[in-house]
Amino acid sequence: MTNLMSQEKETLCYDRQQWRQGYQSQPNEYDYFIEDIEGKVPEELQGTLFRNGPGLLEVQGTPLKHPFDGDGMICAISFLPNGKVHFRNRFVRTEGYVKEQNTGKMIYRGVFGTQKPGGWLNNIFDVNIKNIANTNVVYWGNKLLALWEAAEPYQLDPKTLETIGIDYLDGVLNPGESISAHPRFDPTSELDKGQPCLVNFSIKPGLSSKITIYEFAENGSLLRRHSHTVPGFSFIHDFAITPHYCLLLQNPVTFNPLPYFLGLKGAGECVNFHPKKPSQLIIIPRKPPYEKMKVLETNAGFVFHHINAFEKDNNIYLDSICYDSLPQVKPNTDYKETDFENLDPGQIYRFKIDLNKETIDPEMLESRCCEFSDIHPNNVGRNYRYLFIGTAHKNQGNAPLQAILKLDLLTGKKQVHSFAPQGYVGEPIFVPKPKATREDEGWVLVMVYDGDKHRSDIVILDGENLEKEAIATLHLKHHIPYGLHGNWTSEVFI
Ligand code: CO
Repeated sequence: MTNLMSQEKETLCYDRQQWRQGYQSQPNEYDYFIEDIEGKVPEELQGTLFRNGPGLLEVQGTPLKHPFDGDGMICAISFLPNGKVHFRNRFVRTEGYVKEQNTGKMIYRGVFGTQKPGGWLNNIFDVNIKNIANTNVVYWGNKLLALWEAAEPYQLDPKTLETIGIDYLDGVLNPGESISAHPRFDPTSELDKGQPCLVNFSIKPGLSSKITIYEFAENGSLLRRHSHTVPGFSFIHDFAITPHYCLLLQNPVTFNPLPYFLGLKGAGECVNFHPKKPSQLIIIPRKPPYEKMKVLETNAGFVFHHINAFEKDNNIYLDSICYDSLPQVKPNTDYKETDFENLDPGQIYRFKIDLNKETIDPEMLESRCCEFSDIHPNNVGRNYRYLFIGTAHKNQGNAPLQAILKLDLLTGKKQVHSFAPQGYVGEPIFVPKPKATREDEGWVLVMVYDGDKHRSDIVILDGENLEKEAIATLHLKHHIPYGLHGNWTSEVFI
């Protein structure tokens, strides 16, 4: 046994116990200027980084079955013109969070398998889900919105992070309607005289699924909305845009809700992945009259996230992170016991889509385990050269994300900045320098959990030379549990 354990230690570039501690809840809410800084924060870096993710990994003493079920907690890191940096975190005070905190009881089941105490009798026919608002946070139309794909957005005050309440996007959504947590920001919308616009989608599941596309102007008003029906159950977390199309990849999954309704399983445990079946790429035009969508088949494995898409020489290209098999949520398993060695890595594929021939050619761009990407904001939907993405320390197999990879899609050149063995990274955010002329001329901001010190750091890396020492490392006074998505705005909120 001792031999086995020391062997494991030798081959792993992380400590499992330290990795697990990154899933400890952070029940406290902080508000302070960051003083413990190594290096120097660039003066031109001004704005606010908003991040979202589960803040509580248990509810009133009952541990969650899956971190995706955790109550959303927003972090705001404000970079001021005087070089100071301010940190603040607040829970989204959703109806469910407030009820559970006030009553001291777990009231809701989680979508990803968390059951209320009391066994199936206490969970049967309980489809009352909690809007946990934990997946993404965007600043758009002068509103800060916390997003979760199964319910309405929550609006927060961007300065104080106080929860204002459910936001129906000025009447665009009806009560009970949801919108995805993965909007895409078109930097220069052709239909809007080159103005930026936000594109998002929603899915209404049923025997067939209704996909609705929404486009919003910078002031938050609705520009366009159109709906399309696809057969079967859809599990689509993310999508991609080009100037003329929305691309949605329908994973080869089926959904058997019976164990969920019977209180035996969470909804997420009832999704079955069929690795031998093809995925369906749904291509929806963005321009009126929204002529009929196209549905093409390809083998893509399972996809949560896309990196980007673009049009070139009459083809569409889609870059995505693909898993050969779905890391399925299974009953009676603990996510903290995840056996990384037995999971397939997320790998980057490029899909070349020929709309005339109706063919899709996949090509692997990167075999190293990757997840959570970002690119230069002006290249969303356009041909691009650089991507930044979370990656494992080792270049083979699945493992926790401990490094950031910069991939040059023109030359294939790679740069890796690793925080192993004690550092665990979240989604990198690329912020261009104010007068930048080169695509990678900017900063890569990343929140890193330091398992050794049990605290989190905000690290600023140089986008042009990712491998060099960090420009600055800002030590928080505490840890923030592993997060999901976030966004940068050049407005300074404090
Ligand atoms: Co996501």
